[in-house]
Amino acid sequence: MITKEKVLEALSNVEEPDLGKDLVTLNMVKDIEINGNKVTFTVVLTTPACPLKEMIKNACVNAIIHLVSKDAEVEVKMTANVSSNRKDGKSLLPNVKNIIMVASGKGGVGKSTVAANLALALAQDGAKVGLMDADIYGPSVPIMFGVRGERPMMVNVEGKGMIVPMEKFGIKFMSIGLLVDEKQAIVWRGPMASSALKQFVSDVHWEELDYLIIDMPPGTGDIHLTLVQTVPVTGAVIVTTPQDVALADAKKGISMFNSPQIRVPVIGLVENMAYFTPAELPENKYYIFGKEGGKRLAEELEIPFLGQIPLVQSIREGGDEGVPAVMGNDAVTRQAFSDFAAATARSISMRNANMEPTKIVEIVV
Ligand SMILES: Nc1ncnc2c1ncn2[C@@H]1O[C@H](COP(=O)(O)OP(=O)(O)OP(=O)(O)O)[C@@H](O)[C@H]1O
Ligand SMILES: [Mg+2]
Repeated sequence: MITKEKVLEALSNVEEPDLGKDLVTLNMVKDIEINGNKVTFTVVLTTPACPLKEMIKNACVNAIIHLVSKDAEVEVKMTANVSSNRKDGKSLLPNVKNIIMVASGKGGVGKSTVAANLALALAQDGAKVGLMDADIYGPSVPIMFGVRGERPMMVNVEGKGMIVPMEKFGIKFMSIGLLVDEKQAIVWRGPMASSALKQFVSDVHWEELDYLIIDMPPGTGDIHLTLVQTVPVTGAVIVTTPQDVALADAKKGISMFNSPQIRVPVIGLVENMAYFTPAELPENKYYIFGKEGGKRLAEELEIPFLGQIPLVQSIREGGDEGVPAVMGNDAVTRQAFSDFAAATARSISMRNANMEPTKIVEIVV
């Protein structure tokens, strides 16, 4: 006879490979139901974008068949409750589980493109996602989402007027470029830029999110230091292109996050414009900026490599026309972003399981 105890016993042999423990110990198995030979249960993953979803599901079925009964009819429901590891008192953005900065050393390597498409790909997997454009000097989100010139709505939250994020393509987003005149934003420098960013962070009413993706300005300056001292940043995704100048700057960016005063975990490195693929020859890859420079850098620095995004005309066009590539109809490009998003979500889950809780950085001068 199949019993709940036998099912749990069998599933305690199924390991979550990234977290290195079995599903029962990790408390991931819920709602076991047995009806004769029929066994139904739910596995609750730490992210809906988990790239190992199918593998874990098959391992569960095999465990029941081999260890409980070869006649069992097994139905496994896969769901997710995105993990978080915050210990910061939660004054700001209390309902946001993970805050991810998308940064680079060099400008123009595709941070904004990567940030927007990462947010959209995570949402397509079923996560609740927000995109915050923190590029005070040159906001791109209004153009990428085709909302330039629009103004957000306000809402009263416990007596305070707050900005309601805009919504499109299944995510929430907000940009400082939607709040102030573009010319005004560009002249902000130093303390003025920092206080504008702080105010922007505290004035937007994000509500519940699994992931808040933050598009950063280029470099490693005041805005980065302000942000990590204002909100608990779960980790940073670093964008680079394969050529040496970009790699050198990416390395500088990574050193900043790793420095003893900051210590914001690097979730991984993504190589953008990794190769050129012409639309009419989708099988051809031309490594015009050099081959796999980002991949080698990730290996050298022992940080996760999150994937390669090709240089294709449709990504640029999508960005200019207000329909990011993940929402477009180029299947190869969509797949590249979706694989990258899955690798990123996986690395975030591992970071939450294995590293110290997320805190607000305190820099002592
Ligand atoms: N993989 C790609 N294929 C084609 N075009 C791309 C790709 N990635 C980015 N672009 C284009 O390159 C330009 C710069 O990209 P993006 O604005 O995302 O860079 P950025 O790093 O955010 O720049 P900045 O440092 O100014 O913020 C944009 O026109 C964008 O559409
Ligand atoms: Mg940008």
